[in-house]
Amino acid sequence: MEFSTRLQQLPKQFFATLVQKVGTAVAEGRDVINLGQGNPDQPTPPHIIKAMQEAVINPQTHKYSPFRGLPEFKEAIAEFYAREYGVEIDANTEVAILFGTKIGVVELPLAIMNPGDSMLLPDPGYPDYWSGVALADVKFDTIPLLAENDFLPDYTTVSDEVKARAKLMYLNYPNNPTGAVANLSFFDETVQFAKDHDIAVMHDFAYGAIGFDGEKPVSFLQAAGAKDVGVELYTLSKTYNMAGWRVGFAVGNAKLIEALNLVQDHLFVSLFPAVQEAGIAALTSSQECVTELVAMYESRRNALKVACDRIGWAVTAPKGSFFAWLPVPEGYTSEAFADLLLEQADVAVAAGNGFGEYGEGYVRVGLLVDEERLHEAITRISKLNLF
Ligand SMILES: Cc1ncc(COP(=O)(O)O)c(C=O)c1O
Repeated sequence: MEFSTRLQQLPKQFFATLVQKVGTAVAEGRDVINLGQGNPDQPTPPHIIKAMQEAVINPQTHKYSPFRGLPEFKEAIAEFYAREYGVEIDANTEVAILFGTKIGVVELPLAIMNPGDSMLLPDPGYPDYWSGVALADVKFDTIPLLAENDFLPDYTTVSDEVKARAKLMYLNYPNNPTGAVANLSFFDETVQFAKDHDIAVMHDFAYGAIGFDGEKPVSFLQAAGAKDVGVELYTLSKTYNMAGWRVGFAVGNAKLIEALNLVQDHLFVSLFPAVQEAGIAALTSSQECVTELVAMYESRRNALKVACDRIGWAVTAPKGSFFAWLPVPEGYTSEAFADLLLEQADVAVAAGNGFGEYGEGYVRVGLLVDEERLHEAITRISKLNLF
């Protein structure tokens, strides 16, 4: 039996290769420090687990959820956006509950584009954006994210043809993989660009909670008119260490939300109600656990920066997310450098070219091990005498 053309055009899962390489090294008994992936290392806070435990013994949660999710969860999402960002959300018409945001980035092209239509993606960017492109059988152009522009797109460089054919654009700040953040004036500019060229916007706010140096990341929906053009995707995976629970949501433009919900009406019967109850607890309880988590990532970021400085590796400290985007030394490609680190230092990092053409020249390091292990990783790298 042949797979469909859609499946055949799916991009190769970049992380699968990395997992395999690391798995082989670990199976050989090597003590690999894995900085390659993006899986939060801390547990879900206890009050959220408790809410889940209480919900799971209530037989009401054993039934089908309402198709588009529990109204109370949507209310909690609206309350969260009002409290955290001062953004008004209509819980009925401006929220779509998602099985994690990965599903949302794949559903959106299916929901609003036709085969052959074109979208705009950031380069480097989160590789799952390409999965949505392939499954919806659409095309894409890229906007480079360059260090000299603080890894923000420069809309003045987008050609007329690209602007004319783009129907949808993806952005993501705090950014995976670069650790860059956006400010409100950039989002204002984005709204104008989207209006001028009739492009729908999806802002992926997966790392929305994780900003450093006292700077809270801004929501795209804080920009005036943002709801006219786009939606924002938010996940509980990173903010509350709930990656395995599969819970996130989209908020914003009612038409785009309706389109997402319509796709989902035909694929799911929303999330397990007990998970939605836990989501309510996460969003509406004290956010002290988030403050502590961000402080921990910031401390790890600082430890990494100090260690890199110590060995003469000139790196820029990320302003948000839990990733650092480190330049590779001269004479190496991203992949050759990542392979060298794994083979000779037992340190796994993600090669930048896996995130797009403009990721070449960098590797991505996750701040997802404790400070001691981060130090140890850089000490091992220093022994290769590359800097
Ligand atoms: C930029 C970005 N967007 C979306 C996601 C998906 O997160 P989830 O499906 O857990 O909500 C991730 C996960 O790593 C990510 O890095």
